[in-house]
Amino acid sequence: MKQWVVDERSAGFDESIRAASQYIQQGKLVAFPTETVYGLGANALDETAVRRVFAAKHRPADNPLIVHIAEVSQLTPLLPSGYAPSVRERALMEAFWPGPLTMLFPASAAVAPSVHPGSELVGVRMPAHPIASALIRASGCPIAAPSANRSGRPSPTSAADVIEDLAGEIDGLLDGGACGIGVESTVLTVLEDKVIILRPGGITQEMISDVMDIPVVYDAHLMGADKPPLAPGMRYRHYAPDARVHVWWGEAPDIYAAMCTLLLDEDSMYSHPPMRPAVIAPDDFLSRYTFPSGVRLIPFHHEMYADELAQHLYSQLRACDHDGITDILVHGVNPARGIGTAVMNRLQKAAEGRSFRV
Ligand code: TXA
Ligand code: MG
Repeated sequence: MKQWVVDERSAGFDESIRAASQYIQQGKLVAFPTETVYGLGANALDETAVRRVFAAKHRPADNPLIVHIAEVSQLTPLLPSGYAPSVRERALMEAFWPGPLTMLFPASAAVAPSVHPGSELVGVRMPAHPIASALIRASGCPIAAPSANRSGRPSPTSAADVIEDLAGEIDGLLDGGACGIGVESTVLTVLEDKVIILRPGGITQEMISDVMDIPVVYDAHLMGADKPPLAPGMRYRHYAPDARVHVWWGEAPDIYAAMCTLLLDEDSMYSHPPMRPAVIAPDDFLSRYTFPSGVRLIPFHHEMYADELAQHLYSQLRACDHDGITDILVHGVNPARGIGTAVMNRLQKAAEGRSFRV
């Protein structure tokens, strides 16, 4: 695997981008940073290359990929001839592109079929990261890219995470440092009378509502309804570390009480092998309450807790795995506000049912 360490402010940037774009043009796989998480890129118009993405990630073949573009003019060839985005879709592009918003459109025959298996629709987004845009521009083609993790693992937010999961499976990696947002893009579809959010992400429901004149709702699956998700990817055990994740949200004293019940439970303390716990919580929570010695405490600033948790969640889950942590106890955030919706959605997936309102 060829690795390029890149910074758009330093000499050699253009050369590295050019070399990586040649890989894309040759049908090779290149991982690259976006403002959300690292993506594993392939030419979205090259069916053979796209199939290699699925093989590298061990991704189920029925889970569609997002196509990344660098300018709005690149959208036209992805859509059936004569099809124009609606006024509302254009308003969303205007407001949030480039940025962490993926929209579904009818796909043209130019898009490799494996990008959107079993669906006429293709997800498109314009990332806001300078390395991602430069790579797409230099490649001269749209780039299909799922998150660059092995399927089922937490998404990668650094080059080291990509290497951990995919070294040996991919051809190139643009190392542009850590990702800023940390959770994946919001995926939505605009219907006649409503906008449906299929996956909560970096662009929040409030932000979308602000520019729409129709209701913005979550896919019923996300609201707990016993219905298959509209985004096939939301079906899988996703974003999960090896450690067991437990999440509580509510008032601080109740969260603390619930954490203590788990930590001090005789069965778990003396079970074999013994529990090695970590607690992720706001710094003021961790300084106010005491925890048994041996519990790893992972604080984030209380005022920026939701944003910092979003940014560092996946890297912390991976770090806990490296250190043999068996149980990660997480102080949840308000699931109805801002990025909290996306964070709680990912935590709920990682927790596999061990998620509680107290
Ligand atoms: O922030 C992101 O979106 C990152 C970066 C790399 O751009 N990408 C990403 O891709 O998270 P991935 O493949 O890990 O997640 C894509 C999600 C999946 O849940 C998939 O099911 C959904 O988007 N999706 C993509 N195309 C779709 C389509 N045509 N119909 C329904 N859902 C779709
Ligand atoms: Mg993914």
